[in-house]
Amino acid sequence: FTGPFTVALDGPAASGKGTIGRALAATFGFEYLDTGLLYRAVGARMNEGMDPVEAAETLEAGVLDDPALRTSEAGQAASKAAALPAVRDALRDFQTAFSRRLGGAVLDGRDIGTVICPQAEVKIFVTASAEARATRRYRELAARDPEISYETVLADIEARDERDMNRSDAPLRQAEGALRLDTTEMSIDDAVAAATRAVAERLKT
Ligand code: CDP
Ligand code: CDP
Repeated sequence: FTGPFTVALDGPAASGKGTIGRALAATFGFEYLDTGLLYRAVGARMNEGMDPVEAAETLEAGVLDDPALRTSEAGQAASKAAALPAVRDALRDFQTAFSRRLGGAVLDGRDIGTVICPQAEVKIFVTASAEARATRRYRELAARDPEISYETVLADIEARDERDMNRSDAPLRQAEGALRLDTTEMSIDDAVAAATRAVAERLKT
């Protein structure tokens, strides 16, 4: 195909969106954007005392490479900043432009299929139990910080789920027409295979 082709991947924290998104990008030659990093970058600057709306309006793509954005603190700050409609608005054009790139794009986040790209060619809602997600995220974080506890990671995920699902602007929801992938009992390979099939099918039509 030529022209834009958008894959919208949404779901709660540590459900496997990034893993699936990177695999789809590699298989189909699409560009990949983890939109959570935009909100994490805004949250991190907010924690340093900057106004979150100003942080969103002046964000530059280079900040997305900062490894400090992966911490739980940045995640919590991200979900607080993400509840502000003016922050979401300021980050919107960048995401829309990215989604229309020629050659295909995969975006992962919370509102890609519902708000940013409701016309996406493929929409997938990736989910898993809070305990399964906490176990996964705990393994990642504990590799870098041995002080971290599973209970803290679970509490962090539950607090973000609650905030992300109950905010009034762009709450986390399964988009209409989205394929639901509950990965609680699924291996990474099976989840990637199911998403790959959905994209391959759509590319044929
Ligand atoms: O992007 P998101 O926060 O949704 O999740 P991720 O970064 O793709 O996945 C979080 C962690 O869970 C990673 O360490 C994955 O390797 C792991 N994972 C898993 O164990 N089983 C899956 N079915 C998917 C992801
Ligand atoms: O990697 P993980 O799934 O833990 O979270 P993330 O995707 O990095 O997102 C961090 C926070 O940003 C989320 O908890 C949401 O509050 C917010 N976010 C959002 O509101 N909309 C998006 N499209 C992406 C992230």
